[in-house]
Amino acid sequence: MDFVEQHFTVSYQYKTFFTVNVFDPSNKTLKTALGESIQEKKLLFVVDNGVAQAHPQIVAGIHDYASANQLNGLVPDIIVVPGGEQVKNSMESVDRILQAVNRYGVDRHSFIVAIGGGAVLDMAGYASTIAHRGIRHLRLPTTVLSQNDSGIGVKNSLNYFDKKNFLGTFSPPFAVINDARFLETLDDRNWRAGIAEAIKVALIKDRDFFYWIERVASSLNAREPEVMNELIRRCAVLHLKHIAGGDPFEMGSSRPLDFGHWSAHKLEQLTNFEVLHGEAVAMGIALDTMYSALDGRIDRSDADRVINLLIKLGFAITHPSMAIENADSPLVAGLQEFREHLGGRLTIMLLDAIGRGVEVHAIDATILQNAYRTLEQKTALA
Ligand SMILES: NC(=O)c1ccc[n+]([C@@H]2O[C@H](COP(=O)([O-])OP(=O)(O)OC[C@H]3O[C@@H](n4cnc5c(N)ncnc54)[C@H](O)[C@@H]3O)[C@@H](O)[C@H]2O)c1
Ligand SMILES: [Zn+2]
Repeated sequence: MDFVEQHFTVSYQYKTFFTVNVFDPSNKTLKTALGESIQEKKLLFVVDNGVAQAHPQIVAGIHDYASANQLNGLVPDIIVVPGGEQVKNSMESVDRILQAVNRYGVDRHSFIVAIGGGAVLDMAGYASTIAHRGIRHLRLPTTVLSQNDSGIGVKNSLNYFDKKNFLGTFSPPFAVINDARFLETLDDRNWRAGIAEAIKVALIKDRDFFYWIERVASSLNAREPEVMNELIRRCAVLHLKHIAGGDPFEMGSSRPLDFGHWSAHKLEQLTNFEVLHGEAVAMGIALDTMYSALDGRIDRSDADRVINLLIKLGFAITHPSMAIENADSPLVAGLQEFREHLGGRLTIMLLDAIGRGVEVHAIDATILQNAYRTLEQKTALA
């Protein structure tokens, strides 16, 4: 056989900064994150409309920051896009970004800076990575979920064929800036939703983090900012370590950080995204934790402990669209869709203990049904 083998590796590195008031002209975080010779480079900003409404001064603030810091390449046209899942359901906002890239000559050494929740960041990241085969993108996540999970990772996406994240790219950001100030304007649902991702990563990787969340649950409910900042930081570090240490571009069939997610993705779709991602993840965690107990992997008392924490934080653990009557119930189709999205063999994360995940390759429909029934009984008592 005659062949020439090609082999190379590409190394990535990026920083996640933590700050408050990123657009205060004296705050150097953004300027530092953009790096060397930034004066000459174009900067195209994309802002989540929910953020623009809650922070009406933000567009003027970006202009003032750029003038004060000699960011002369600022594209004057700041693109405000719809917030939330709807922005991922069509190509409309991607197209607006591409139009601006074309009109203003935003090249590969320029930056697209996206400010918003996970949905806007997923969409803007996707647009950034397909234009000119990849323009640097810098993310400013503005929700708990995007600061502790989605915004710091390497994935960008859009929904297509009614399927979550059907289109997408693996492309790390140039940098991430988490500004705690944004969190103050979140509604209670979005404040709470991101906590589910912290519980998820704690349950599969870090027992002490789980116990800590239990201890501070009342402070989280009272919206104490320092406690939330600590939760975000610890969660972000666990996610970042996992991404770097494992399989960042998901070449294998397993996706350990997606504990509780096979049903969550399906539930979001079944409810037309009325259930938020984090809320769906909380229900998915409850289901897979109870499954782990009924399958004899963890003590029932530990499963109850997890579910009690979710309830204490105000999460629902069941939803009418999750009802599992038999192996043909709509939610169960989520298992197959989850497998298809990754390719390869069905791989589902369950729990072996609080703080330790275990991967399995088959899910028993009867145990699943019993697990869901048990959650329904708990909901009735709560
Ligand atoms: N790329 C990944 O690895 C990854 C991982 C997890 C989740 N996600 C995706 O992230 C998305 C969910 O993101 P999310 O939970 O951040 O919610 P979101 O992006 O849907 O935003 C929720 C709502 O909050 C508003 N908002 C955002 N910031 C605000 C602020 N500071 N003040 C007031 N309102 C604000 C938005 O306009 C929107 O209406 C889903 O599409 C999910 O699939 C991606
Ligand atoms: Zn998630």
